[in-house]
Amino acid sequence: MCVCGEHDWGWGRCAPSLVLLLSLLSAAPFGLRGEETRQVSLEVIPGQLGTSQNLLHVRAVGTNSTLHYVWSSLGPPAVVLVATNTSHSTLGVNWSLLLSPEPDGGLTVLPKDSVQFSSTLVFTRLLEFDSTNVSDGAAAPPGKTYPPYSLAEFSWNNISDSLDPATLSATFQGRPKADPTGAFTNGSIAFRVQAFSRSGRPAQPPRLLHTADTCQLEVALVGASPRGNRSLFGLEVATLGQGPDCPSVQKQHTIDDEYAPAVFQVDQLLWGSFLGFVQWRPVAFSQQQKGRESALSCQASHLHHTSEYFLPQSPIVRAFFGSQNNFCAFNLTFGASTGPGYWDQHYLSWSMLLGMGLPPVDTLSPLVLGIMAVALGAPGLMLLGGGLVLLLRHRRHSEYQSIN
Ligand SMILES: *[C@@H]1O[C@H](CO)[C@@H](O)[C@H](O)[C@H]1NC(C)=O
Ligand SMILES: *[C@@H]1O[C@H](CO)[C@@H](O)[C@H](O)[C@H]1NC(C)=O
Ligand SMILES: *[C@@H]1O[C@H](CO)[C@@H](O)[C@H](O)[C@H]1NC(C)=O
Ligand SMILES: *[C@@H]1O[C@H](CO)[C@@H](O)[C@H](O)[C@H]1NC(C)=O
Ligand SMILES: *[C@@H]1O[C@H](CO)[C@@H](O)[C@H](O)[C@H]1NC(C)=O
Ligand SMILES: *[C@@H]1O[C@H](CO)[C@@H](O)[C@H](O)[C@H]1NC(C)=O
Ligand SMILES: *[C@@H]1O[C@H](CO)[C@@H](O)[C@H](O)[C@H]1NC(C)=O
Repeated sequence: MCVCGEHDWGWGRCAPSLVLLLSLLSAAPFGLRGEETRQVSLEVIPGQLGTSQNLLHVRAVGTNSTLHYVWSSLGPPAVVLVATNTSHSTLGVNWSLLLSPEPDGGLTVLPKDSVQFSSTLVFTRLLEFDSTNVSDGAAAPPGKTYPPYSLAEFSWNNISDSLDPATLSATFQGRPKADPTGAFTNGSIAFRVQAFSRSGRPAQPPRLLHTADTCQLEVALVGASPRGNRSLFGLEVATLGQGPDCPSVQKQHTIDDEYAPAVFQVDQLLWGSFLGFVQWRPVAFSQQQKGRESALSCQASHLHHTSEYFLPQSPIVRAFFGSQNNFCAFNLTFGASTGPGYWDQHYLSWSMLLGMGLPPVDTLSPLVLGIMAVALGAPGLMLLGGGLVLLLRHRRHSEYQSIN
């Protein structure tokens, strides 16, 4: 976590972001090629006999590729990401297989040989810690652990009711099926999914830059009663490793905090070399009014191998990938014992971006460029600007290469 003062534009931070930009651009030919705009559609795939089995298919069609994001709250909330190299690939769902104890093959993307990349994220548990008497903000776990809520044991709303084709969004809202203490009587956890047909930036912090190749997920815990006076919450997230190793979580520093006040860092998880990614600013918010006053830090643990037997099982993951043993998991924890917290308003919100191909890279904002212009003088800036233009052109013209 790196939270710095408003006027901290130290030059030391500039280098890493330029190096990042250079390394991303030069590596682009080895990754999946993105497209600037896509025809995006959201479709709820109806289950058998009207049973409430949420399955949301986000299909993003480009000139030469289609991205599929399949979100579901069958079991723990999960998404399966599939990139194909044709604009005609389709998702096949066999509900009787999917709902059976052996769901292998219940979810397919056809034609099979068009699949260039696939992976998954599974949100397995909601964690809660008592941070009373914990002074070290970076301690892991950040205090006494309460029994986690298994998100596989939640019941979820009918996703059709929240589907909004205008904003390309839908929300999975859930509460525990069994809630003996009544903690969720007035509360719920919501996973709001949003897709985009072109690049842009939402109005709300952390204002992650999105492209047509990405989906945004906002996780919000609202109104649930905490078990302690100073409860911190967290999320356990699982994914599949590519090969023997777990994907790594990288922290990138940026000098630009215009869009996410006082957050000079972007964290990302990369699958393969620029095939897929998860990206987030290490910040969460304790109020609906998202700003500096309600900003909480967000810590990510290292990814490590986890036997699937220790994780709640996701039928869609099993249905698409079959039986797998290379699950990796990590924990995200939000906030510290001091400062704002969930306890203020019983509200916590955190956002991430999920995508295929190259992660979006924040270029310097006009404000920061202005400050640099003053500091460097116009000739230096033109030199820098010219270099960036050349690099971006190189990126546009770089040829697609198959990952096989
Ligand atoms: C979910 O909502 C849609 C539209 O409101 C409705 O057609 C469908 O039957 C509902 N499904 C269930 C299981 O209630
Ligand atoms: C799509 O593929 C065709 C044929 O391979 C190629 O000529 C064209 O440039 C590609 N278009 C894009 C946008 O990648
Ligand atoms: C679904 O899978 C079952 C079991 O493999 C099979 O018998 C059935 O024909 C499949 N249904 C469809 C529509 O393909
Ligand atoms: C916190 O520390 C105080 C004083 O050391 C102690 O009395 C109290 O029981 C502790 N509370 C918890 C929750 O550990
Ligand atoms: C839920 O809300 C009602 C009405 O605001 C309140 O009376 C009740 O105490 C709340 N229950 C919990 C567990 O917070
Ligand atoms: C929470 O705070 C209240 C009032 O400060 C105190 O009476 C209570 O014992 C605390 N509960 C816990 C679990 O620490
Ligand atoms: C996440 O934290 C919980 C509680 O501390 C722990 O039981 C679990 O093993 C952790 N998961 C991972 C993947 O580190």
